[in-house]
Amino acid sequence: MARGAPSFVCAACGAVHAKWSGRCDACGAWNSIVEDAPRGVTSPARGRRVALAPLAGADPAPPRLPSGGAELDRVLGGGLVPGSAVLVGGDPGIGKSTLLLQAAAAFGAQGAKVIYVSGEEAAAQIRMRAARLGLADAAVLLAAETGLRDVLATLDAETPALTIVDSIQTMWVDAVEGAPGAVAQVRASAHALTDHAKRRGGAVVMVGHVTKDGQIAGPRVIEHMVDTVLYFEGERGHQFRILRAVKNRFGPAGEIGVFEMTGAGLAEVRNPSALFLGDREARTAGAVVFAGVEGTRPLLCEIQALVAPSPLGTPRRAVVGWDSGRLAMILAVLEARAGVGFAGKDVYLNVAGGLRVAEPAADLAVAAALVSALTGTPAPGGAVIFGEIALSGAVRPVAQAEARLKEAAKLGFDRAYAAFKPGSVGETAVALNPVEDLRAFVEDLFGAPEP
Ligand code: TYD
Ligand code: MG
Repeated sequence: MARGAPSFVCAACGAVHAKWSGRCDACGAWNSIVEDAPRGVTSPARGRRVALAPLAGADPAPPRLPSGGAELDRVLGGGLVPGSAVLVGGDPGIGKSTLLLQAAAAFGAQGAKVIYVSGEEAAAQIRMRAARLGLADAAVLLAAETGLRDVLATLDAETPALTIVDSIQTMWVDAVEGAPGAVAQVRASAHALTDHAKRRGGAVVMVGHVTKDGQIAGPRVIEHMVDTVLYFEGERGHQFRILRAVKNRFGPAGEIGVFEMTGAGLAEVRNPSALFLGDREARTAGAVVFAGVEGTRPLLCEIQALVAPSPLGTPRRAVVGWDSGRLAMILAVLEARAGVGFAGKDVYLNVAGGLRVAEPAADLAVAAALVSALTGTPAPGGAVIFGEIALSGAVRPVAQAEARLKEAAKLGFDRAYAAFKPGSVGETAVALNPVEDLRAFVEDLFGAPEP
């Protein structure tokens, strides 16, 4: 790309393109590519020599500012690190402002100086929200402001331990072209705030709306700048929300915190497996319990399948909470390796509670739910199922089997059908039924398929 020539960036995924086009070939979004600020011409002046330090040697663990809320602290890796920048992304209306106002109050209650900058709501609106959340007396300072220069001047003078900026898409840098929400604005604002955090040692949390239409630059374009990226997710119409660490320079990625939405704000869920399993009725065909792991946290959930004769030439395959490509693969492996066919049948698959499962470890549970639904035979009661299915029909062991079994035992399950690495599982109260081959597993649970 020529120096000084304009470049283009996808507002949805952050991919950089040399020329404009209607569709981003990196993420497939339409109308999301916008012009980025031209790259500056850099001068070839010589730099100064920087000091080098040996890698070996111990630094003390970074100090942490705990919120006192177990779920939030877990996702942050034990609390906020001073001087760090955190991005909290999520769909509009998912509950980000509520989460962060509650977090602000929690950090304030720990004695930290907290400033909540809102570019979306007036102070009076935020006070009303706080009153609804029972936080009317919280030790939080408010500012309704969108001009970043003024925000930074305020932070310089006040030196808070934590600044929350809701949202980064409303912030405006006067030195940069474009309206608030434009890629260049979002990037410049995030950069200035991150830089301020590093220099002054206060933590900054930025809210970023995820938008699909590309009108507003999504959080993706600033993910690389910040230390920690959290996504707040959940299905509309379901009461629980998951805060997931997708990147964390100061803790494990993949960690989740589980919250329940209530009229008085978000409540922590200490035992999410119980929430996702809900009230399981007597054994029904098509429903099986998957022992999953999210981050370091075991999580049991119910996988439900429905199989019905299809009136359509191309039967339907509908999935909620799992990957549809993966479902197609499991159906193909069942047909080719276990002799169980789904031709002429509509197949519906659902992860109960609105949870989204991404682990391949769910393969075996999905296969069991599908065959159970097809044959009308309930899966064994009191059992959890997990294992990854290979195209050959072999069932492969998955990580953290011990944690999965422990959680199953805790919730009253007494047996497990799964592939185990030899010696990977110690003493357990759950009866183990090792699975190595999909066909043998299907025949064992549901009988031999009709020829
Ligand atoms: P809000 O926090 O404003 O979402 P975001 O900042 O992500 O756009 O929440 C959206 C709506 O949901 C708001 O009207 C408040 C309501 N809500 C509750 O009633 N209880 C809750 O626990 C949460 C999280 C939200
Ligand atoms: Mg909001």
